[in-house]
Amino acid sequence: MKNLKIAIQKSGRLNEKSVLLLKNCGLDFENYKSSLITTVANFSLEILFLRDDDIPGYVEQGIADLGIVGENVIEETRSQVQYLQRLGFGRCTLKIALPKDSPVDRLEDLNGKSIATSYPNILQNFLNEYKIKADIQEISGSVEIAPGLGLSDAICDIVSTGGTLKSNGLKPFVDVASSEAILIAREGIEENPIICELLQRIQSVLRAKE
Ligand code: PRP
Ligand code: ZN
Ligand code: MG
Repeated sequence: MKNLKIAIQKSGRLNEKSVLLLKNCGLDFENYKSSLITTVANFSLEILFLRDDDIPGYVEQGIADLGIVGENVIEETRSQVQYLQRLGFGRCTLKIALPKDSPVDRLEDLNGKSIATSYPNILQNFLNEYKIKADIQEISGSVEIAPGLGLSDAICDIVSTGGTLKSNGLKPFVDVASSEAILIAREGIEENPIICELLQRIQSVLRAKE
């Protein structure tokens, strides 16, 4: 039988815990060094190391069968994938944040302001809900630098420890969404016996942690 493929983050917040989860399931493989694909020695599975933003798309298109990725990225990309299991790590909040000395005080003060973000779809939904018209500046990373450079009045980005906000002179303003790591699968594959086996192992690892 052909190996299944699981996509995980190459580097970043979710990489280490994704690798640890798979290792705790008894899978024998090497973590990402320079090869972007690795074969598990004792299970019918290959691991793809990708940018998190690309993972839902790979799974939606069936290039990967499974993926481990933040709910924030799934929502933003509006991918048609199945949620197999919430994984309980990678918890974070998508927040609008402001420069420490910002005059913005209430939500409606964001009218006419510009907000830099890598999550334009989620942010636009949020602004629509509160009938706020702001200008969304889409950038793909290092969003926290934007207000200091005069690119935007505010940002909307993932906050985990809050360290990145703090070291860039920003303060949290309002929560937009919360997120954690999710095991996703492409549509129609859930009956596959290898996936059932892996899912059972993952669930027993999660139970052992409770
Ligand atoms: C998020 C966000 C910040 C960082 C915040 O990045 O973009 O860079 O985490 O974490 P902190 O509050 O603990 O400082 P993410 O891990 O989602 O990676 P990416 O933006 O590179 O995909
Ligand atoms: Zn990313
Ligand atoms: Mg980031």
